Amino acid sequence: MKSFQTISELRTYLAAGRKRGSKVSFVPTMGALHAGHKACIDIARREGGILVSSIFVNPTQFGPAEDFDAYPRPVEEDTAGLLQWGCDAVFLPSVREMYEREQRVWVEAGCLADVLCGKHRAGHFRGVATVVAKLFHIVEPHVAVFGQKDAQQAIIIREMARQLNMPVAILLCPTVREPDGLAVSSRNRYLSKEDRAAAAGLYAGLRHGKALLESGEREARAITESVRRYLTGAGILGTEYVELLNAEDLSPTDPVAGRVLLAAAARIGSTRLIDNIVLEVRDGVRETMLF
Ligand code: PAJ
Repeated sequence: MKSFQTISELRTYLAAGRKRGSKVSFVPTMGALHAGHKACIDIARREGGILVSSIFVNPTQFGPAEDFDAYPRPVEEDTAGLLQWGCDAVFLPSVREMYEREQRVWVEAGCLADVLCGKHRAGHFRGVATVVAKLFHIVEPHVAVFGQKDAQQAIIIREMARQLNMPVAILLCPTVREPDGLAVSSRNRYLSKEDRAAAAGLYAGLRHGKALLESGEREARAITESVRRYLTGAGILGTEYVELLNAEDLSPTDPVAGRVLLAAAARIGSTRLIDNIVLEVRDGVRETMLF
């Protein structure tokens, strides 16, 4: 596996591959790699071509009070993992390499960034969309894979690629979970033993929401309020939001119908965790993917 720290060296390597007729599949990450990242990479590998991953803890998507400095950076383990998972190249740029001068031009996601995590993390999705746009222009992949775990991110990236005419297909990877249902996340390692036990309640709360829909409830607020109460009962006191939205454009859905996203965020101890499920609500209720 090749490792690149500069944009120009990575571009030279990829240009040579393209000249030989190879396509490029891409999985951007912030490192601290786990089974969720591996699942994204497995999907990208099936698309063929040169398999590239990036590890870059992107400062512009962290708020001033967030964990940018504390974010785990186990670079050696990560590169060993990527090698084992069959990556051909890893891009490990410095902050200076990615943000050579003060960033003045940004990608904004409009109302897609006004709800869910966007409402609680000002500027977060502007940072995500901008760094992913930069990475797409550097790597020029024909496909890029994103996890449903970060559903709002995946929706925003897909819309960015569409609306800015980027020639890249956005593929979605299902959420990888621990045996008790907790979505695998780089931030799970911050959880104390007690908090780790409570954290499983987040997914259980979403299942509770699904059960309400299955029992015929269609009023969005009745469901989200009931999920909130469920989370409190499960020992999750720091619920930030529980929302039920249209899964295509994150608009309200009330009465709940069609493809919907049930998403929640909660602070457990000092760790902020998010999770979601996507449901197709017609006469019956079926779990499905965002896209
Ligand atoms: P990071 O949190 O490292 O996640 C990288 C990719 O892995 C994202 O597409 C994310 O949705 C996916 N992922 C994380 N946990 C997952 C899980 N349990 N199951 C399936 N997929 C999972 O998301 C980012 O980095 C950054 O915002 C980034 C897109 C790299 C831009 O900086």
